[in-house]
Amino acid sequence: MELIQTAEWMKQVMREARADGHIIGFVPTMGALHEGHLSLIRAAQRQCQPVAVSIFVNPKQFGPKEDLNKYPRQLAADQGLLESLGVEYLFAPGAAEMYPPGYGTYVNVEGISELLEGRSRPGHFRGVTTVVLKLLEIVGPRFAYFGRKDAQQARVVERMAADLNLDAELVVCPIVREADGLAMSSRNAYLTPEERRAATVLYRALRAAQSEIEHGERDGTRLANALRRVLDAEPVASTDYVAVVDAESFEPVVRLRRRCYLLLAVFIGTTRLIDNLLVEESGEGFHISL
Ligand code: PAJ
Repeated sequence: MELIQTAEWMKQVMREARADGHIIGFVPTMGALHEGHLSLIRAAQRQCQPVAVSIFVNPKQFGPKEDLNKYPRQLAADQGLLESLGVEYLFAPGAAEMYPPGYGTYVNVEGISELLEGRSRPGHFRGVTTVVLKLLEIVGPRFAYFGRKDAQQARVVERMAADLNLDAELVVCPIVREADGLAMSSRNAYLTPEERRAATVLYRALRAAQSEIEHGERDGTRLANALRRVLDAEPVASTDYVAVVDAESFEPVVRLRRRCYLLLAVFIGTTRLIDNLLVEESGEGFHISL
């Protein structure tokens, strides 16, 4: 695997790969890699060759009171993991490479960026879309892979890609969970053993809502209440939001229809975790993905 740390060199290497007729697959990450990230890389490897992974803890997507400084950084371990998977390129620029002095350009997707995660984390999606556009320009992939774990992020990036006529096709991959249902996240490393046990409440809440849907519940408010009831019963958890939204607009729905997300954001101690459930309506009824 080749480790590349400058945008200029990465652009040149990727340009050459494209000129040789290769289909580049790209997986952007902030590192501290876990099975969730690896599932995106394996999806990329099934469709593309070569695969490029980026590791960049993007300061622009962290709020002033968020965890930028304590966000886990383990480049050597990540590098070994990527090497063992057979990833061809690792792009790991420093902050000054991505945002040199005088940097002044930002991308903002209006509307959806202001809802839910955007409301709780002002400026977050502006940081995400800015860095993802830069990374897509540097790498120039045919396909770029995102996790449904961050469903709103994937939708915001899709909106940007459509609005700006980007070449890359986005692929959204399923959520990878721990054996007890907790969605994998680099932030799970912050949890104390007691908090780690309590953190399963997100999954338990989604399972409770799943059961309601399977018993015929279609009402958005009642499903949101079902989520909240489970979360409220966990003393270590404090709910930031629960929502039942349309999967395209991320606006709340009165009743389930077409594609919807049940979304939750919960503080476990000081660690903020998110999770979701996807409901898709088809001829046969409603299909649920956890
Ligand atoms: P990061 O949190 O490192 O996640 C990188 C990618 O892995 C994202 O697309 C995320 O949705 C996906 N992912 C994380 N946990 C997952 C899980 N349990 N199952 C499936 N996919 C999972 O998201 C970011 O980084 C950043 O915002 C980034 C897009 C890299 C821009 O800085």
